[in-house]
Amino acid sequence: MQLTVNGQRREVDVEDDMPLLWVLRDELGITGVKYGCGIAQCGACTVHMDGFAVRSCQVAAASADGADIVTIEGLGTPDTMHAVQDAWVEHQVAQCGYCQSGQIMQAAALLLDNPEPSDDDIDAVMSGNLCRCGTYPRIRAAIKTAAAKLQEV
Ligand code: FES
Ligand code: FES
Repeated sequence: MQLTVNGQRREVDVEDDMPLLWVLRDELGITGVKYGCGIAQCGACTVHMDGFAVRSCQVAAASADGADIVTIEGLGTPDTMHAVQDAWVEHQVAQCGYCQSGQIMQAAALLLDNPEPSDDDIDAVMSGNLCRCGTYPRIRAAIKTAAAKLQEV
């Protein structure tokens, strides 16, 4: 399969049904994307595929052939973090950190779709991203900060 990952064209020889999560982690060495449950229940594996947040544990390699994939490593630029990443630092969101790349990718997709989300909007979109450390209040605050900053641009 061929795909674009974080702006780079990549080619891998894998089975059609290999989950995109393992294509990224095991074949391409992109380890910011995390394995949590493997059954679309936790959101730790969230990446962007053609501009939409997807659970990479549930996307077969054949379905991602030709797609444009962005992971946490490619969300910002080499010189500048994405506004969501900046807000995460400002609010010191992470605790153990395991869920956080998925949280950030889901939040960035939310703000692309809805630049001024309400608390209910945030809760509805982010509810599929689980955090065993309970960082939810700071996630919500950071999304609001990022939304405000993106509105200034
Ligand atoms: S590892 Fe994909 S949703 Fe949990
Ligand atoms: S920060 Fe530990 S699981 Fe979310």
